[in-house]
Amino acid sequence: MQRRYHVTTFGCQMNEHDSERMKGMLESLGYREAAERADADLILFNTCSIREKADERFITHLNQAKGLKAKDPDRIIGVGGCWAQSVKDHVFQQFPFVDVAFGPGQVHRLAEFLTSDSLTAQGYFEFEGFTGHLPMKRARDFQAWMQISVGCNCACSYCIVPSTRGREVSRPFGELVAEARRLAGEGVREVTLLGQNVNSYGRDLRPRAQFSELLRELDTIDGLDRIRYTSPHPKDMREDVILAHAELGSLCPHIHLPLQAGSSRVLKAMRRTYTRERYMDRVALIREHLPDVALTTDIIVGFPGETEAEFRETLEVVEEVGYDGAFTFNFSPRRGTTAALLEDDVTNEEKVERMQRLIEVVQRRAAERAQRFVGRTLDVLVEGTSRHDADRLRGRIGHNKTVNFDGIAEPGSIVPVHITAATSQSLRGEMSLLALASR
Ligand code: 5AD
Ligand code: SF4
Repeated sequence: MQRRYHVTTFGCQMNEHDSERMKGMLESLGYREAAERADADLILFNTCSIREKADERFITHLNQAKGLKAKDPDRIIGVGGCWAQSVKDHVFQQFPFVDVAFGPGQVHRLAEFLTSDSLTAQGYFEFEGFTGHLPMKRARDFQAWMQISVGCNCACSYCIVPSTRGREVSRPFGELVAEARRLAGEGVREVTLLGQNVNSYGRDLRPRAQFSELLRELDTIDGLDRIRYTSPHPKDMREDVILAHAELGSLCPHIHLPLQAGSSRVLKAMRRTYTRERYMDRVALIREHLPDVALTTDIIVGFPGETEAEFRETLEVVEEVGYDGAFTFNFSPRRGTTAALLEDDVTNEEKVERMQRLIEVVQRRAAERAQRFVGRTLDVLVEGTSRHDADRLRGRIGHNKTVNFDGIAEPGSIVPVHITAATSQSLRGEMSLLALASR
């Protein structure tokens, strides 16, 4: 009988992408996907460790897998990703029913384990390069991720990622261009470049390469209509990248620029290497060249020592920038980080209260900003039917906003949609009549 696998993915897009590679690799070994965890011979978790909540959620799932294995001891349980890396071999002491554990960038070792005769539990935790050469199973034919670098050389004091994903290593320029060409040839229209710090891409290569050069090269590929990337670091957001947005037709008008905090004192304690003023200079430069671009951000609330006055500086920046959207997080101390050694002195009540105030400003400004789309006709890449109304279609504009709209179109097509209404979260619209008539 054919063996079946089930993968549960936690965390960021990098993990989603690694899971696609896991699935591709397993299928090349003759496994096929099980719809339910209970039907799988191989139960895999691709884990995240960015915040405490991520850990807790995963442990609940892992315990369910333990129950399944108790019923059928031949099942294999594998744990990959950042949580696995951050606890390393302890995983086997804490969860003896786990058969194989591997860090990010060790996905290929899973195949080695499955094809060996090894009966003992195995852990694979070195940092060594890319999953880029593995086959992958994409969720959608017309969208793809491309990992341009792994690891992170920053030392943000709150962040576990440098310890789970290692030093930054860029993939060779030519290899990325070839991969993008191949993807375009397979019908991919939108590619998202992934890295912990995408805009420092290429500094470790010899000869050195620049992120903006990569964007320029990818823009020349026929069939790639949309190029996105995540996440850049504000310290490396230079004019060449901003100008690339103005000049390259396929580079989407969206920049994710993680702020983290509005106070320069807190930013310093976070070791972000920029001040409030420098961040605002970047925003001014972006807005000067790209007045319509969508700006989104990440913000941490309640970093150790954050005072009420410092928190208000975050509110001020959010008010002033007017983000199109923001991911907001309560500070969560992570093992091995320097911020975890500081006293987590902002009480939970304070964090909750600050978070509410922050979300109010984020949403109000996002809703205001979104009104600029109303009345315009914008290209939408169709992704499927609307989540709330099966009679409507859903897709995204270049600015990365979701649009629910009336129309007739296939997933993967790009159609003009007249925007009729906007909230902080999404847009409403109807497919332009001309486009409908010419179908
Ligand atoms: N606590 C809270 N939020 C965090 N992030 C990273 N580490 C932590 C932490 N320890 C947030 C940052 C980052 C995003 C991916 O997660 O805002 O940009
Ligand atoms: Fe992604 Fe960070 Fe979570 Fe790892 S810890 S999966 S890099 S979000």
